[in-house]
Amino acid sequence: MEASTAEHLKRQAAASALGHVQNGMVLGLGTGSTVAHFLELLGNRLLTSELKDVVGIPTSNRTTDEANKAGIRLIELGDSSRIDLTVDGADEVSPDLDLIKGMGGALLREKMVAQSSDRVLIIADESKVVDWLGTLSPLPLEVVDWGIRGHVQFIRDWGGKASVRMTNNGEAFKSDNGNLMLDCRFSGGIKEPAQLEAELQARAGVVESGLFLKVADLVILGTDSGPREVDRKP
Ligand code: A5P
Repeated sequence: MEASTAEHLKRQAAASALGHVQNGMVLGLGTGSTVAHFLELLGNRLLTSELKDVVGIPTSNRTTDEANKAGIRLIELGDSSRIDLTVDGADEVSPDLDLIKGMGGALLREKMVAQSSDRVLIIADESKVVDWLGTLSPLPLEVVDWGIRGHVQFIRDWGGKASVRMTNNGEAFKSDNGNLMLDCRFSGGIKEPAQLEAELQARAGVVESGLFLKVADLVILGTDSGPREVDRKP
């Protein structure tokens, strides 16, 4: 998919997500290029007072900057007893609406905000849809740096290959929380995502994984024929 087409489809999904935002809502604000469109469009609606009294909880320093630029009032996680709706992007979306997230490096805060939200709405262009998780995107893991080779071996035992994410400057990428990211590639996809997630959650030193299973309530996909909404099946 050409970059300009992808941007158009991301914006289409972001614009459609605005239809789920109501006055007075507390919104979780995800991270990434698709969410950037949403923030800009939300800021416009607030500026023209088509939407009022909306506050956001950002999931990254990047989103904080973009939301500030768009004029969205921000609070912190815990300032409100509830989050009505979180709007976030994804790196992969499975037919069951399970996700891989974290290529933007914000998966820990994204998962914390998502798990505190009444509803989680994912926006993405249709190229993110996969038949099986792990076939398009690596699985990102946020890890503490001490003992990192143990996680590389653990992923190898799962048939994958983990590499430390690097910046364009050739330095190890650090998340907003100061941790490293391991990007894990699985040829043929992740065989048993739920089992892998359970083992990762039980594994000391893995701060969080980019598997977001049963987290999304609704996905809006930007497609050539217009936005397509897919609800989680009960
Ligand atoms: C951020 O850490 C990620 O989880 C993003 O939500 C994901 O990478 C999607 O980003 P794009 O909208 O830029 O594709």
